[in-house]
Amino acid sequence: METLILTTSKEDIDKAAEILRNGGLVAFPTETVYGLGANALDPDAVKRVYLAKGRPSDNPMIVHIGEKEGLAELTDMMTRDMELLMEAIWPGPMTMVVPAKDIVPRVTTGGLDTVAVRMPSDETARQLIIRSGVPIAAPSANLSGHPSPTTYRHCIDDLMGRVDAIICGEDCQVGIESTVIDMTGGDGKPPVILRPGIVTAERISQVLGKEVSLDPSLLKRPEIDKDTGNPVTGQDFRPRSPGMKYKHYAPQAEMTIFRGPHEAVLRTIGKRQAELEARGLKVAVITYSDSEQETAARQFFARLRECDKDGTDVILASALKEEGVGFSVMNRMFKSAGYNIEEVKEEKMKIAIASDHGGFGLKENIREYFAEKHPEIEMKDLGTYNEESVDYPLFGKLCGETVVTGAADLGIVCCGTGIGISIAANKVKGVRCALVTSVEMAHLAKEHNNANVLALGGRTTRPEAAFEMIEEWLTTEFAGGRHQRRTDLLDNM
Ligand code: TXA
Ligand code: MG
Repeated sequence: METLILTTSKEDIDKAAEILRNGGLVAFPTETVYGLGANALDPDAVKRVYLAKGRPSDNPMIVHIGEKEGLAELTDMMTRDMELLMEAIWPGPMTMVVPAKDIVPRVTTGGLDTVAVRMPSDETARQLIIRSGVPIAAPSANLSGHPSPTTYRHCIDDLMGRVDAIICGEDCQVGIESTVIDMTGGDGKPPVILRPGIVTAERISQVLGKEVSLDPSLLKRPEIDKDTGNPVTGQDFRPRSPGMKYKHYAPQAEMTIFRGPHEAVLRTIGKRQAELEARGLKVAVITYSDSEQETAARQFFARLRECDKDGTDVILASALKEEGVGFSVMNRMFKSAGYNIEEVKEEKMKIAIASDHGGFGLKENIREYFAEKHPEIEMKDLGTYNEESVDYPLFGKLCGETVVTGAADLGIVCCGTGIGISIAANKVKGVRCALVTSVEMAHLAKEHNNANVLALGGRTTRPEAAFEMIEEWLTTEFAGGRHQRRTDLLDNM
């Protein structure tokens, strides 16, 4: 089939409207995602949409109208809640499921006796619908299973040769599909959100002045069938919106979502990326902070498609808080990743501390100081645990080994003067232990030597002075440069 490439000019929209009237298929922009339109009242046209997309035929279409008055053609239902929502949100990214009149072919509704209706705000979309003179059934204009298209180029990639025309409009501003709300319960019942979108549950609640509920399937993690990638529909997962039961938005790359405190997630993703790249894999990272929910919504599908285009092997993504628009983005992200989620725990910084009997008192003072001043840091007390005489080399070595194996990030060692235990720690390859007796030395121990273990004398340094030195060492940055060359030499001795 030859696919006409059209602009958003008046003449081109007229051409597209003509195609729709004659039972053809037209991909067109909306504010959410591009839609693949057909005359909703023409069963043959609608069947062609299923074919062009490769879409299961029990997955019903959203019927788009150009004016609010168009709703009455499709349903007999009109409630106060519907009026309030239409008034507040239409034209816009919200779809209402209502009982269908007989005029709506059952192929359009996937065999259901309800119909999903939406009035888009995008001007091209509205003009197209109005000029075609019929309601327009339009699923997202992607091949079934692919991420929804948010630019006309995505439509060209998926549908060239499969549809009659593609209207090349602007990139979609919202980026995720409309919020689908089941209104069939009437005013007596809370409306049910079947698919979350940019119009959040909070917003709908606010408009209606009452609670709305979420379809339970939105809160569950379905079991995924290994062969098809589709969620297994059983007792626990039986979505009311048929489309929610199919594999969706899947990129070709393997995708993992990391969930947890944002900073810790970013660190984990960074490490994982380095490991995978070292193995020669092409890695893409998709991270948004919780203040970027709308941006995440707008860009997410396009990012997935870029990954497909440039042959990405692995996608590492950070989860957003599942609140407001974040909930809606995560609804898509979980599906894209086939619910492949890794929980990331807050990684506390760990400091190992060890002493002999001569440093025991100072070690205990330092531990108390950290417990009070730095609860965010985890102290690993390696002993000694009382004032009985012990041999400092053993404790110096133990602390050094704890640091170089990564079981702790840094170490502190104490003996009577700090001298003996620092010598012991420095015998461990990779340890750069500095014995310090002033704040200035503590500063330089980090700035120049990047000391990973600090040694202090229990009989030569007062606890308060020791605390100041430790603070200075922790907060000073290593200078790098020529100092890096020297610490590298040290580490390789
Ligand atoms: O933003 C959008 O809604 C886009 C643009 C093009 O308007 N359209 C879109 O359509 O996302 P589609 O077909 O990709 O998704 C329609 C969703 C599916 O999850 C489907 O199961 C649900 O709406 N749906 C349609 N009719 C329904 C009905 N009668 N009852 C329950 N869910 C219905
Ligand atoms: Mg879709």
